[in-house]
Amino acid sequence: MGSAAASALPASAGAGENLVLILDFGSQYTHLITRRVRQLGVLSLCVSGTAPLASLAGLRPRAVVLSGGPHSVHASGAPTFPEGFLQFAVDAGAHVLGVCYGMQLLVQSLGGAVEAGEKQEYGKMEVEVTARSSALYGEGEVGKRQTVWMSHGDEVVRLPEGFEVVARSVQGAVAAVENREKRFYGLQYHPEVTHSPQGMETLRRFLFNVCGIKADWKMQDVLDEEIRTIQSMVGPDEHVICALSGGVDSTVAATLVHKAIGDRLHCVFVDNGLLRYNERERVMSTFESDLHLPVTCIDASEQFLSKLKGIKDPEMKRKIIGREFIAVFDDFGHNLEQKIGKRPGYLVQGTLYPDVIESCPPPGSGRTHSHTIKSHHNVGGLPKDMKLKLIEPLKLLFKDEVRKLGSILNVPESFLKRHPFPGPGLAVRVLGDVTAGNALEVLRQVDEIFVQAIKDAGLYDKIWQAFAVFLPVQTVGVQGDQRTHSNAVALRAITSEDGMTADWYYFEREFLVDVVNKICNNVRGVNRVVQDITQKPPATVEWE
Ligand code: XMP
Repeated sequence: MGSAAASALPASAGAGENLVLILDFGSQYTHLITRRVRQLGVLSLCVSGTAPLASLAGLRPRAVVLSGGPHSVHASGAPTFPEGFLQFAVDAGAHVLGVCYGMQLLVQSLGGAVEAGEKQEYGKMEVEVTARSSALYGEGEVGKRQTVWMSHGDEVVRLPEGFEVVARSVQGAVAAVENREKRFYGLQYHPEVTHSPQGMETLRRFLFNVCGIKADWKMQDVLDEEIRTIQSMVGPDEHVICALSGGVDSTVAATLVHKAIGDRLHCVFVDNGLLRYNERERVMSTFESDLHLPVTCIDASEQFLSKLKGIKDPEMKRKIIGREFIAVFDDFGHNLEQKIGKRPGYLVQGTLYPDVIESCPPPGSGRTHSHTIKSHHNVGGLPKDMKLKLIEPLKLLFKDEVRKLGSILNVPESFLKRHPFPGPGLAVRVLGDVTAGNALEVLRQVDEIFVQAIKDAGLYDKIWQAFAVFLPVQTVGVQGDQRTHSNAVALRAITSEDGMTADWYYFEREFLVDVVNKICNNVRGVNRVVQDITQKPPATVEWE
């Protein structure tokens, strides 16, 4: 991932001048540190904590944050930064901030000692500033207390040379350390989570006062830079294909590329037979009337569904769908070649940063890329022998950042606020064989009732994603005095910041009663509705 991040680094980031690298050691909060730094107007990139030194050094970061992680520094196979990393940081004048596991790793690597704590600290905890003057807390803060979020079993018991303790927990554990001369800092708690209310202030101090970083990560600059990059990448007589899904990401990506190369962009909307209720009609009319983007609509539903017949394995479905998409794009490219006399050489994808991060397993997990949780087809499912070169202008952005970019590009609000929809569509929402019976049709109807009810209740914008899932199980019911043996469906609605972690949405009882009545009364073949009340983790958002 390190080298991927390096190659994706936009020049607008000043090639490192104001770049913060987050080295990931497997904490569930790592991506949150990346987001918090960006919220402060600074570009941050998350790379594997075990990435080779050359790829980290090549990014020339101004500051490096060592993330937390689930390991003990004493565990065999516990992840660590590459050899020579700390010397590199000192020589390059980069500031290093270890968070939780990251602080323990820093301390241990520099000759200090970390041991299993007598009292383990999990959850909210008070810490007190113990130094009269400190880089992380400022001057004259000694004695001040703040509530922070702790999550550690081990603790620092001896400091390396040149370090001082600047804060302790009320239980006496080391909470923050500094070696200002060498520019090493550590926080035992998580400043990035909202349960540490002053954590953002500490991060702000660290970035601006301690590291002297400038807040120059602005969406307008990202847009200008991306346009320049695309213009220099795509030759003046080359053509580009963009598959529009009707979702936020591909729409913003297409609008951006259109701004860069004009009508040498050829958009295609593929009906793969896995779309939601009336989706094709709705999307096509919006593209034409609101976005003024020329789009060709291709009905490839038979082609996709025949290839998916009898396939139950979710990853296999994703791979098949990825392959068929490419086959359709190839055909589309071929037809364009006949028309314009030149074969398009590029494909635009709306890949987002979380897709890139989630497609890489966390370091220390012992997993390789082949064990990735889901190969999001944006990233993992494309065939290796694909001839089209990829343009992924949103690869470094989180969803909310894409929405900001879209609004600068005047993409209509209604589009920007649409819930995300996965590339493989309803194939990952009909469990098992999508072609069995009339599962797809039933799912479309249930989904439409559920989502429309959410809109009617004014809840759509409060929910990150809401959808129905078709369960391939038959249950017994009684409808109109008749015993029925029909399908069960599940409803899932989640809140989330970026889809990487999620909580389920709590509906009022009346709302659910009404929705379930509508579904069972209107959708033939459904006699039971359940609601998915699992967070991510442990569940994922989609059921497959
Ligand atoms: P999961 O299920 O991985 O979903 O927790 C996180 C977000 O990603 C979407 N998702 C996908 N998007 N191709 C996509 O383009 C996929 O294969 C895919 N799988 C999940 C999901 O809808 C959610 O927003």
